[in-house]
Amino acid sequence: MMIKFYLKLVILLIIGGSASQNLTAKIAAELGDEICPIEIKRFPDGEKYIRIKGKIEEEMIIVQSTGYPQDENLIELLFLISTLKDLGAKKIRVVLPYFGYGRQEKCFKEGETISAKVVSNLIEKTGATEFISLNLHEDSLRDFFSIPTHNLSAIPVIAEYIKKNTKNPIIVGPDKGALDFTTEIANILKCESIYLSKVRISPDKVETKIVANVNDSKIDISMVEGKEVVLVDDIISTGGTIINATKILKEHGAKSVDVCFVHPVLVNDAVLKIYGAGVRNIIGTDTLTSDVSHVSVANIVANFLKK
Ligand code: R5P
Repeated sequence: MMIKFYLKLVILLIIGGSASQNLTAKIAAELGDEICPIEIKRFPDGEKYIRIKGKIEEEMIIVQSTGYPQDENLIELLFLISTLKDLGAKKIRVVLPYFGYGRQEKCFKEGETISAKVVSNLIEKTGATEFISLNLHEDSLRDFFSIPTHNLSAIPVIAEYIKKNTKNPIIVGPDKGALDFTTEIANILKCESIYLSKVRISPDKVETKIVANVNDSKIDISMVEGKEVVLVDDIISTGGTIINATKILKEHGAKSVDVCFVHPVLVNDAVLKIYGAGVRNIIGTDTLTSDVSHVSVANIVANFLKK
């Protein structure tokens, strides 16, 4: 009882931006925390208006993803940080479940904007004192900040889902970038894993091949024959990566293909196209709100915030 009372005194108030309302509510419930009410509307000319209506503590948490519409969600996040600072919050912990603009973390062609750097700078300069995200596209994104940063992982909840819903699966990464992901999940589930090779031709076109594995020997794609295959990735955007991989897996006799991934960016009709390619289940998390956000990261975020 005493402990509970003490915790209630130090526990923080949480604000959910409009992009992360469900997740905020779940995190608040896990923490036994209060949700601070805010008002969001538009001026007649389209500009955004934000008012924080609840009480403010010295320490506050904001949860807001910056997925589509990215610019709008980002400006909302910045307004919330700035307003909390004006209202006297000293510690502003920003939870960005999905880091929109995080995929342009370097110049691929001369003259390009490093948008991930710009966004990081804006978040920090506006007043965030801690930055928390999940499965950042590159961990090096954290280097853009000088405040403490944390890159949490949704892998435990994804692995739990796979364990409950498949029998003796094989885990497949659709590209080499998913290698750490596949290995970690396969280790938790004590099952086999392989990965394919992908070359991105343009933002919405990829080519996928069966090539060398970590030891540079050709992967044995026949391992998928007759198996329940689970494709895992950090992001699904257009769905091209998953569709190509599914075609290869089906051609090589996979019994079923499920897709488990963290960030449901899901551009246009990506979900339909993926089902159309023969995928059995599409399972994303709620770092972004979507029709396939079946697994929640609330527990992972809440456990971290409790520390
Ligand atoms: C890329 O390296 C990522 O891990 C994903 O594979 C990629 O973002 C998926 O994009 P799309 O669904 O458009 O193929």
